[in-house]
Amino acid sequence: MAKHKLKQVGLIGLGNFGGSLCQEFAELGTEVLAMDRDADRVDDYASIATHCFVGDSTDEMTLREIGVRNLDLVIVSLGDDIQSSVLTTLVLKEIGVEKVWVKAQSKYHRLVLEKIGADRIIHPEKDIARRIAHRVTSDKLLDHIELSKDFSIVELVATSKVDGKSLLELDVRAKYGCTIIGIMKGEDIQVSPAAEEVIEKNDVLIMIGNNKDLNRFEEKGL
Ligand SMILES: NC(=O)c1ccc[n+]([C@@H]2O[C@H](COP(=O)([O-])OP(=O)(O)OC[C@H]3O[C@@H](n4cnc5c(N)ncnc54)[C@H](O)[C@@H]3O)[C@@H](O)[C@H]2O)c1
Repeated sequence: MAKHKLKQVGLIGLGNFGGSLCQEFAELGTEVLAMDRDADRVDDYASIATHCFVGDSTDEMTLREIGVRNLDLVIVSLGDDIQSSVLTTLVLKEIGVEKVWVKAQSKYHRLVLEKIGADRIIHPEKDIARRIAHRVTSDKLLDHIELSKDFSIVELVATSKVDGKSLLELDVRAKYGCTIIGIMKGEDIQVSPAAEEVIEKNDVLIMIGNNKDLNRFEEKGL
């Protein structure tokens, strides 16, 4: 599948998270327009970002002047300064930035961001905690990627219950409502496996679906 090539991204806040993102985007060849109110942080990333500015992101004029409005996506990560994070998000939406993704620090920060129209809320600590908790409480689940509140992609280890059965025989989609989108057999990965593909014990099933359906398959079908 062709990956959408993001041309330019804006980063507001060059702390722990924003700084790491800046580095990653630069390595991927994406142009980065970055901003932080701390001149030392801006100095640290001046040679990595395409354009780097010192400024307060809650100031509408400053945001307009640096040209964030023309960007495909702006990511806001201002750490514990929740007031700045909320105000910056509001201003970015107000001046017409199409996609504003914001790093949330807490549940209440997330709720406020939802209400003011952040297009995506990133909560890395919570996401990682959830993935670790899912992993240690299930002997079948290897990984869990949340796509939205209700939908996920999971990696499940095939048990002896499904050993030697084809996808056609299992009929997971009709019985459980979720879909096997890939099978990992050792180092090999089969994407969109055919209906006659046979599953063996310890294969890794890559599945997509509603969380309830995925849980039901993990508990009853596997
Ligand atoms: N190891 C440490 O010493 C340390 C310190 C702080 C945070 N953390 C961790 O880092 C994570 C947070 O990372 P992060 O990147 O979201 O936050 P961060 O605190 O690392 O960085 C926030 C950045 O936003 C900038 N900023 C704040 N308000 C601004 C405004 N109005 N205009 C422009 N810039 C502004 C700050 O100058 C700072 O560079 C948390 O998990 C936290 O626990 C670790």
